[in-house]
Amino acid sequence: MTEHSQKDIFLESEGDAWYARNQEGLGGEGHDLVLNTLQEIGIAPASVLEIGCANGYRIAGICDQFGAKGFGIDPSSKAVADGRSRYPSLSLEVGTADRLPFADNYFDLVIFGFCFYLIDPRLHLRCVAEADRVLTDGGLLAIYDFIAPVPYHNRYTHLEGIRSYKMEFSRYFLASPAYRLLRRTMSARGVSKPDDSAGLDLLSKSLAVAFPPNPFL
Ligand SMILES: C[S@@+](CC[C@H](N)C(=O)[O-])C[C@H]1O[C@@H](n2cnc3c(N)ncnc32)[C@H](O)[C@@H]1O
Repeated sequence: MTEHSQKDIFLESEGDAWYARNQEGLGGEGHDLVLNTLQEIGIAPASVLEIGCANGYRIAGICDQFGAKGFGIDPSSKAVADGRSRYPSLSLEVGTADRLPFADNYFDLVIFGFCFYLIDPRLHLRCVAEADRVLTDGGLLAIYDFIAPVPYHNRYTHLEGIRSYKMEFSRYFLASPAYRLLRRTMSARGVSKPDDSAGLDLLSKSLAVAFPPNPFL
């Protein structure tokens, strides 16, 4: 396995294969944990990025609700092509979380859209740095994914050579004093089976309060 093979497999084929298997059901539940949480806390973002956006259906819903400018990135060129024709007002790009083709401090909401578990851990810190780079100071970070009390991996059932990884991904960001956990909402799906445990961690970013003046003077 080369260093980036899991990412390359998603760019070459598995992103499209995931989309072919799941596109029918996307957004069909009539309930989206990310959108619902934003509505509940009453925060209206002006510019939103979803990483691992598939065809962009979630960002389209958020933009409809809040009048935000919507952006997305996903390794599936088929999902992105489909999303560009369904939601022409969105800006969708083919790519991966470790290299975001967006300017610094551009978004006031960045969402990891149930994709962190598919990323090779050797790239995790690059993904953290990229999300932090594009998220403005004072912005919100939403990590929607599996939430496991200890890190572990599973074999990915659809393709040999790929793993899914589980942990509390928000811990990467919460290691920095700039990030605070505002709210955790567990998904109703998977409450009875620990391996399926998933949810949304909503974090705020504030460099302004991260390092206050020296309290020991
Ligand atoms: C489980 S789907 C979630 C799709 C959508 N965000 C949702 O919540 O319904 C995971 C998505 O992550 C994408 N993905 C896989 N590896 C990725 C990576 N390294 N960076 C960004 N997205 C990735 C897949 O192509 C797929 O569209």
